Amino acid sequence: MQESRLKSICRHVSAVAGTAALLFAAGCRQDMQNQPKIFPQRGSEMFADHRGARPQALHTVARGQLETDSYFNTGVVIGANGYKEERNLMPFPVTLDVLRRGQERFNIYCTPCHSRVGNGLGEIVERGYKPAANLQDQVRQAQPVSHYFYVMTHGYGAMPDYSAQLIPADRWAVAAYIRALQLSQNATQTDVPAGAQVKNLKDVAAEENLPASYAQPWALPASAVQAYPAVTKEGTPGMAPANPADPMIRIPASNPAAPVAK
Ligand code: HEC
Repeated sequence: MQESRLKSICRHVSAVAGTAALLFAAGCRQDMQNQPKIFPQRGSEMFADHRGARPQALHTVARGQLETDSYFNTGVVIGANGYKEERNLMPFPVTLDVLRRGQERFNIYCTPCHSRVGNGLGEIVERGYKPAANLQDQVRQAQPVSHYFYVMTHGYGAMPDYSAQLIPADRWAVAAYIRALQLSQNATQTDVPAGAQVKNLKDVAAEENLPASYAQPWALPASAVQAYPAVTKEGTPGMAPANPADPMIRIPASNPAAPVAK
């Protein structure tokens, strides 16, 4: 009798203890529930700007964002006949910041071949690369602005593409800057506000006691190596002759078989 009462007390005690243990466990769980984390639409102490929702990491594409067929991404529209058409149209407004960005990117990626003024006689060309297109000639000036974007995206003949180095917005910025470069070399009095003076390079050279040749289009130095043979039917596009449509490109006479632009 004594023994059975003791047993029943013990049972009660252990039941109470068990319940308490359960309550205790629920009250302070030591699992991942309790780690610091970000709640939607709430701030966070973890980041310097105290924003819980983070801005998208640069140059990443989230699911559903990939969009490859817009004018912004391709530089072409599909015409009524089903062909790709280039347009003389920027997909966003050109501000001074856009031009500055374009200038910076152009000077990094394009001047080695096209030179700072875009005449196609950059340092690499002086060392034997195929003369790059003269962005100042009539052919290139007449091209729609999205043509430059397209060339940067896909390359052109001997020119490699720059789609890995330049995101689409940068390619457009460079295209806009090419237009600014063209204007810089061909501006007339009607392009500037009344009262402003357009100086021509010859006058600048005279004023600053520079040789007259300073104002001349420059030619490749005779030391420039023309790495491509005169017969260009075979070989890589890089071995094609300079485009004779480039009036400012002169191939050194040391390579008489190469075409000579006047
Ligand atoms: C490694 C040298 C090199 C670099 C760097 C280079 N280009 Fe070129 N580019 C060329 C050559 C060479 C041609 C002429 C291609 C041909 O005729 O085979 C050319 C042609 C062009 C043309 C003319 C296409 C046409 O329709 O005639 C444009 C526009 C152009 N490049 C823009 C750019 C821009 C913008 C950059 C910088 C993002 C750039 N290039 C960087 C070598 C280069």
